[in-house]
Amino acid sequence: MDNAAHRLTGLLPAVCFPFLAQLPDTFWMPSQASTTAREVDVVFYLIYWISVVFFALIVGLMTWFVVRYRRRRPHDAAQPAPAHSTSLEITWTAIPVIVSVLLFIVGFKSYMNMVTPPRGAYEIAVTGQKWNWLFTYPNGHISNELHVPVDRPVLLTMTSEDVIHSLWIPAFRVKMDVVPGRYNRTWFEAHTPGTYPLLCTEYCGVGHADMLTTVTVHPSGRFDTWLEAASNLFDTLPPAEAGALLARRLGCVACHSVDGAGGIGPSFVDLYGSTVATRDGKQLLADENYIRRSIVDPMAELVAGYDPVMPTYAGRIKDQEITGIIAYLKSLSRHAGGDAELETAAPAEPGVPTEVR
Ligand code: CUA
Repeated sequence: MDNAAHRLTGLLPAVCFPFLAQLPDTFWMPSQASTTAREVDVVFYLIYWISVVFFALIVGLMTWFVVRYRRRRPHDAAQPAPAHSTSLEITWTAIPVIVSVLLFIVGFKSYMNMVTPPRGAYEIAVTGQKWNWLFTYPNGHISNELHVPVDRPVLLTMTSEDVIHSLWIPAFRVKMDVVPGRYNRTWFEAHTPGTYPLLCTEYCGVGHADMLTTVTVHPSGRFDTWLEAASNLFDTLPPAEAGALLARRLGCVACHSVDGAGGIGPSFVDLYGSTVATRDGKQLLADENYIRRSIVDPMAELVAGYDPVMPTYAGRIKDQEITGIIAYLKSLSRHAGGDAELETAAPAEPGVPTEVR
C-alpha cells in the first residue's frame, strides 16, 4: 500500500465516526496526544456505545417482559403460545453479525496501523533495566527521559537488560513489552507538544514503581536544538552540574539517594572518600577509581548489604561523563578534598583495587 492509501484507510474510522474522534480528557481516557490515540479511542468508544445501547435494550426488555408476562391469577390459560417468527430470527442474527464485522474491520485497520511503522520514522533505541529506562538517540546521546519531535513518526526499538518490562505511554495509547534477548518495536506520531507520563507496566521487581519517567514532545523545530544542547552538556556546564544532570538522566538517582536516605543502592551522600565494606570482606576507599569501576563493572566490588542488581554502564557512558559524575559525588561528600584534584588525577586503571589497610 502506498503512503496516501495507507493514510486514507487509517483515517477510515475517523471518517465513519467523526463524533468519536478528537475527544478531550474523559472519565475513561487521558487526553489524546498521538495519531494512534485517536484511532484507539474510536474503537474503544464504538465498542463502549454499542455495549451501552445493547445493555439498555436487553435490560429494558427483560424488565418490561417480567412485568408484562408475570404470573396472574386466575392464570389465563387461553392465551396462545408464541408462534415462530422467521423475520425475528433473521433480525437478531443479522444485527450481531453486522456489529461484529464492523468491529473487526475498524479494529483490524487500527491494529495494522499500530504495528506498521511508516518508512523514514525517527528511530530511538530503548533499553529497559532494573529499574530505569535508557533512550539512545541516533547521535549517541542517552537519557532516561524520552524526547521526541512533534508531527513526525517515531520508531522505538526496545530491548531489556534483565527481566521483562513494558513501556506504556497512556497519552499516546502505546504499550509494548520490552523483553530480554530480543527486540520489540512500537511507533507513534505525537501531534500535541507537551510532557506526558511514561511508565513500566510489567511488574519487574521492587523498583518497578520507580520506572516512571516522561516523554516530552518538542514543538516544531525545537527538537534538534534540544538534542544538540543535551548532547553537549560539558560545553555549557561545570563538571559537577553536568554530572548531577547525568546522574538523573542515566537513572542513577532512582536507586542511589542524594539526600542520605536508604535505597536499592548506597546513597550518594558522603560516598566519595568514605571507606566501603564489600561483600567479600574487603575495605575499599571510595575514590575516583573505585567509582569508575562501580559504574563500568558493578559486580566486581559489591557493597555489603546490597543486592547485585546494578546494570553495567560500560559502553554506554563516556569517560568525560564518568568524570562529571565523580565531580558530582565529590560535591555531595564531606570527605572530598580540593576541587582541582580530579583534573590532575591519573587516568583510571580498571581492575586495580585501592586497599585501605
Ligand atoms: Cu520495569 Cu516494571
